[in-house]
Amino acid sequence: MTTFSLVAIPIFVFLFAVRHQRQLLQWLSQKLKGKHCSKDVANPSDVKRMAPYPAQPIKGRERYRVMMDIRKLDAQNWLTLDKNYMDEHRVRTQLLHEKREEVLRCLPESIEPCQEALEEVSDFLCERFPNMFEMSIQDGRKIVTNRMTGDKFTISGRDSKGITEALEAAVRLTMEDLSILMMNEEGEFYLAASASLFPTGWTVNQRIGWTISQLHGPVPLWHQQVGNSVSKFLARLTPTSPMERSNYFVEVKGPNESLTEILYRPNSLCEKELSSPLPSDILIRRERQTFRRLPRTGAIVFGVKTYLTPLDELPMAELDNLAKEMRSWPDYVGEYKGRDVWGAKVLEYYRQRVGEEKTGNEDKDGSIDV
Ligand code: HEM
Repeated sequence: MTTFSLVAIPIFVFLFAVRHQRQLLQWLSQKLKGKHCSKDVANPSDVKRMAPYPAQPIKGRERYRVMMDIRKLDAQNWLTLDKNYMDEHRVRTQLLHEKREEVLRCLPESIEPCQEALEEVSDFLCERFPNMFEMSIQDGRKIVTNRMTGDKFTISGRDSKGITEALEAAVRLTMEDLSILMMNEEGEFYLAASASLFPTGWTVNQRIGWTISQLHGPVPLWHQQVGNSVSKFLARLTPTSPMERSNYFVEVKGPNESLTEILYRPNSLCEKELSSPLPSDILIRRERQTFRRLPRTGAIVFGVKTYLTPLDELPMAELDNLAKEMRSWPDYVGEYKGRDVWGAKVLEYYRQRVGEEKTGNEDKDGSIDV
């Protein structure tokens, strides 16, 4: 190699990196976050290859406390797509058809915020996943086309067909459930509209119009430990400071339950009669919750993405943390979370995995000695 190329190549690489800094950083962050956020997926059917947005791991806290645990929203992943899109889209369509009253309600005052939410959702999806969603103008109407399913929705310039139309279109596009929170005269946020297709022990028609405080009535220690902070947090949220948080539940699925029955849980996540479930029937059900203040109407869009991981697919470190956390729950918290149904089985499985790891390590040590 000549002296010229030894000097010229690094300079060229440096100049290239400076010139394309933004694209390189974008590429790097996409690589680090996995394939779920690819603008470069060429075909709508490529969604089947997209890995889910990484769920927050179970932390392993040794002392139980209800936590706000909010962090800045990863804005470019406000809404996500992954390989489960088509299956879950079928479930969503079925529920909107068969359980419409239970999963979708909008109070009259939420019509404008629901319309704004639909605009935000469609703009975001078309910008973020241009190969999956497309915006067009037809006869003066703004239309979004979902290229994976063939669905088309009018975003603006339409004659409204009903009060739930905009929010329904929004949740037919997303994998997230979406709710609209508005402030009442007492300054409290309440559930003004909701499309919650994958609920955990409640339904929209039971709780529409409830304040955030009422919604959390059954949650032990919620009012004592986070009630005030949640109200302050929601009141201070601005369009430029969106936030997110994560939550997990443990669910027990019955034998031969369909995906619809697993995801749509209006009553309970763990039926008492299923007290001896297999590890593969115990699911860690995580929710990624996002909070965004809408700039025009000032309402809040609350998004919930549900992820399921069977217990026997949980990495050892997280299983360890789950065992730690469930032991830290006072009895009344354990009862709320269904520990009576699945707790003994989880610990039995945990001890078995610990045993297997130990044996594996001893074998490895042994082979080195030999
Ligand atoms: C920062 C805000 C929030 C915090 C800290 C929070 C916290 C929690 C916690 C700790 C639970 C119990 C989950 C468990 O560990 O088993 C829960 C349940 C629940 N949350 Fe929230 N939440 C927030 C926002 C919201 C919002 C905006 C809604 C509106 C729909 C909501 C609706 C619910 C419902 C319906 C339940 C189930 C209650 C039941 O068991 O009946 N949450 N929440």
